Amino acid sequence: MNSIIRSRCISACRTFTTSNIRRTTAPPQPPKAKPKKFFGPITWKSMAVTAVVGGGLTAFMMYVRREKQQAIDRERKRQLGKAKIGGAFELMDPEGKLVKSTDLLGKWLLIYFGFTHCPDICPDELEKLAEVVKLHDNSESAPPLQPVFISVDPKRDSPEIVGKYCKEFSPRFLGLTGTEEQVQKACKSYRVYFSAGPQDVDNDYIVDHTIIIYLVDPDGEFVDYYGQNRNANEIYNSMLVNIKKYEASKKKAWFA
Ligand code: NI
Repeated sequence: MNSIIRSRCISACRTFTTSNIRRTTAPPQPPKAKPKKFFGPITWKSMAVTAVVGGGLTAFMMYVRREKQQAIDRERKRQLGKAKIGGAFELMDPEGKLVKSTDLLGKWLLIYFGFTHCPDICPDELEKLAEVVKLHDNSESAPPLQPVFISVDPKRDSPEIVGKYCKEFSPRFLGLTGTEEQVQKACKSYRVYFSAGPQDVDNDYIVDHTIIIYLVDPDGEFVDYYGQNRNANEIYNSMLVNIKKYEASKKKAWFA
């Protein structure tokens, strides 16, 4: 009891003395306003800063989580879709010679479907593809890689036209086309959509088509795909990861 009273008394005295001091130091009030600004519990400014920083952090964490989830989903889709995307095709090279998908076994493939009259997207994608190939070829330990362009416009894209077109981007490209039936079959195995639009006065037309670069391993298995939003470095880095994975799995199979 006694101690409580005493502590109360002390605290009362303390408040009394501090208030006393306050009263004595009361006149110069302006400098007192400053510390209040600094140590004041919550100001609109501090709340706004906290909200911005906190919001940024949360957004970043959500982004990381979403990226992780997307990677998991992609992996799952890849496992599920392995048998469904890719497959056999028979097309023609620029000399008009038949090229079967089995002829390309033993090399990594980057396959892009497009058409030579494409005004902007195909040229951009092929330029990007040429850049990826350059990055790949600069590495000494790089396994064989064949970039492939397959026309979705067999009516206009003859083997010769496709050959000339591809050379504009890279001497490394293999340009393929074929009969409508052959092209349709190749597109179907890679689930590529294409549809020729109406002709204009100059008989020109646009072919609406899927914009994807497919990565196929040396066994002819579809491994990964890259949309328009992926740049050359991203594609190259993903390719490196896939090549490493493939080589590791081959080593495992060898020792098993
Ligand atoms: Ni195009």
